[in-house]
Amino acid sequence: MPHVFEMADPADAARGIAAARRALEAGALVAMPTETVYGLAADATNPRAVAGIFEAKGRPRFNPLIVHVPDVAAARARVTLGETGNRLAGAFWPGPLTLVATPRPAGGGIAAIADLVQAGLPTLAIRVPRHPVAEALLRAFGRPLAAPSANRSGHVSATTATHVAADLDDRVAVILDAGPAPMGVESTIVDVSGGVPVLLRPGSVPRAAIEAVLGARLATPERAAVLAPGMMTSHYAPEVPLRLDATSVAPGESLLAFGPALPPGAEGAVATVNLSPSADLREAAASLFAALRVLESRGAPIAAMPIPAAGLGEAILDRLRRAAAPR
Ligand code: TXA
Ligand code: MG
Repeated sequence: MPHVFEMADPADAARGIAAARRALEAGALVAMPTETVYGLAADATNPRAVAGIFEAKGRPRFNPLIVHVPDVAAARARVTLGETGNRLAGAFWPGPLTLVATPRPAGGGIAAIADLVQAGLPTLAIRVPRHPVAEALLRAFGRPLAAPSANRSGHVSATTATHVAADLDDRVAVILDAGPAPMGVESTIVDVSGGVPVLLRPGSVPRAAIEAVLGARLATPERAAVLAPGMMTSHYAPEVPLRLDATSVAPGESLLAFGPALPPGAEGAVATVNLSPSADLREAAASLFAALRVLESRGAPIAAMPIPAAGLGEAILDRLRRAAAPR
């Protein structure tokens, strides 16, 4: 059983950070809350610990990890951000933006990031989370943390400590429970390693906010290369089928609702979860993964209502499309 600490309780929080730090130093895994989703963290400079992340999640070795650091200076020690990256870091860090950038060669007395983190890619993904517990852990530990979302590979991401325990059980040594992750969908990933910034994954920072800072459009990745394997077609998948843009509910289906007006057949749904009765996209993002887990537990196929594509809707729809994709 993982050791769970209630971070809302100051005494437990202090014990939790100390226990997490010891676990990380021993090469074990820690579930760390962030503003987006819970991360499954390991010492990014310890190859065995990083390998443990892939084992615990059942994650393919070709899928690289995001490195988490406490502040922009620590990020700059690891990667060359360039002009675009510096603008975005200034505007959004700490916060739910991951930058894919060119790593600096190891040296200068700082331990090298384990090769497995980049999974053979020439770039490194890095982010500065905006969450007091993540920041406290990063500072206490003093080394960067590699952390994917704390779910089994391909499954719905974890936004609560309960989700983490359900997916990973004793593969994680310590869970720092800070309640539900506030934003609920993962960081936006932008590749700033080349000439033009590329939106690799829509996420909690809306595309338009990034484009406003840059005064330019973000490019879309080439389909051929699976550059961010979280872009693999099937991902975020509940154990039951899910269909998109449902304008009615068939007998035997559950309903993933959005907005005040429910479609025909809703009264007969096996179960209904409304992502936001007032049609608020922030609320919908924050409740998305928990809603999918609740409906999955009911065992019936899910009919998902349409969601607007603007703002955070782009990230929500991205997750739902992958949840709906053939497995
Ligand atoms: O909000 C988040 O980003 C959360 C929290 C825990 O920080 N983390 C997260 O990690 O979503 P993960 O591993 O579930 O998704 C990271 C994505 C994967 O799709 C991975 O392929 C991509 O980032 N990625 C990592 N390094 C990359 C790189 N060098 N180039 C392109 N994509 C990369
Ligand atoms: Mg993930």
